[in-house]
Amino acid sequence: MVELARDEQEMLDGKHGRAQQRSMEILVQYADALGAEQFVDTNNVHLFVGFHPYPEVIQILDGDELASKFLLDTDEKITVDYVKAFNTTHIWAMDLDRWQVMGAPESLHNLMESIRAYCIRTGISLSATCTPYQVGNLPTRGEHCAWTESSAVPFCNAVLGARTNTEAAHSAFPSALTGKIPLWGLHLEENRRGTHLIDVQLDVNSIMDWYLLGYYVGEVCQLAVPVYELRHKMVPNISMLKGLNAAGASSGGIMMYHIVGITPEAPSRQAAFGGNKSKETIVYGEAQRRKAYENLNCAKGETVDLVNIGCPHYSLEQLRDVARLLDGKKIHENVDLWIWTAYQLKSIADRNGITDTIKKAGGHLMTDSCPLNTNLFPKGASVVATDSAKHAHYAPAIGGLDVYFGTMENCIDAAVTGKWRGELK
Ligand code: F3S
Repeated sequence: MVELARDEQEMLDGKHGRAQQRSMEILVQYADALGAEQFVDTNNVHLFVGFHPYPEVIQILDGDELASKFLLDTDEKITVDYVKAFNTTHIWAMDLDRWQVMGAPESLHNLMESIRAYCIRTGISLSATCTPYQVGNLPTRGEHCAWTESSAVPFCNAVLGARTNTEAAHSAFPSALTGKIPLWGLHLEENRRGTHLIDVQLDVNSIMDWYLLGYYVGEVCQLAVPVYELRHKMVPNISMLKGLNAAGASSGGIMMYHIVGITPEAPSRQAAFGGNKSKETIVYGEAQRRKAYENLNCAKGETVDLVNIGCPHYSLEQLRDVARLLDGKKIHENVDLWIWTAYQLKSIADRNGITDTIKKAGGHLMTDSCPLNTNLFPKGASVVATDSAKHAHYAPAIGGLDVYFGTMENCIDAAVTGKWRGELK
């Protein structure tokens, strides 16, 4: 049984209102199910409140009622005054400004508007992105967090050295209300140590290469803590690590890893393992890279009717690059081009003329959401091209689409010609 500190017991006893009481009830159940012995304070939560597209089943539009039912698991209507912890929000069920481009129904838009009003009133950030770290949520090393979103969690743990497990909507929300999360899993030093050595024998210099590496290792390691050792020393940038994280959390469930000499808890191989013995050495060479590439490409023929890029949401670097590729070009009449980023980054793209360049070419720069989480794809789309291993992994099952995976350049070429000409070089 989890042991409660005085402030936690007071919340559970209802001394700080019903919202915190209900939240503690949920968190105590959660901690007991996990086997956690105590809670730890958190002031950094990445919430999931934008709801998946449930307009057919959700008839209510009252924010308190919605949050009570879906996030606090009760039919009792609980009014939240103000959320305690600093927070950002994961993607929402639609682009809040361009929902009609996505083909979102009005009922869904109305639902999102009532949640938007609820968030404004209760102090929930309208950041709406799967990349909170790109829009100002940068916890410091050792900081305890409660983040949803599988691709963001390894960024928090491995890249920043902060600490989080992969939370769900129903644990993150009570955590934000109380500022507490069970002290368990990756909050604890011993669970962050490396378990498998990855001998990276190839140069990994491009974003696509980091996606392929993560995809291969995720599949082999599943929930383990891989320790990447690069033979060719280079320092991956934010766009590359975003790819590694998203891929490893799609083919597997990697929440924590180390890159020797690069990530904060791995100044050396020895430090990365922290006294653990590697269970296995996994070689990553040309054959493994090709296997990952082939697993991600299931489309046949050459016709493409949707190009979907920005999964996870594109960085400023990627927005700049995609605008360069599109400058002066026109998207093929049979192709839709959707590019996803965070609202905050789009503001910079607007100022820099990037949005205009994409628009002139016939593409859409979209924010707040993505088709995989909403299942809102352009009507009739059957073959998608993407530069994201995560999108390639999930699009067949979720959208019923055949997929081509390659570089950003391959994808823009497909958007312009309507044909896939990418290959592994
Ligand atoms: Fe983000 Fe959607 Fe991809 S949430 S990581 S763009 S599947």
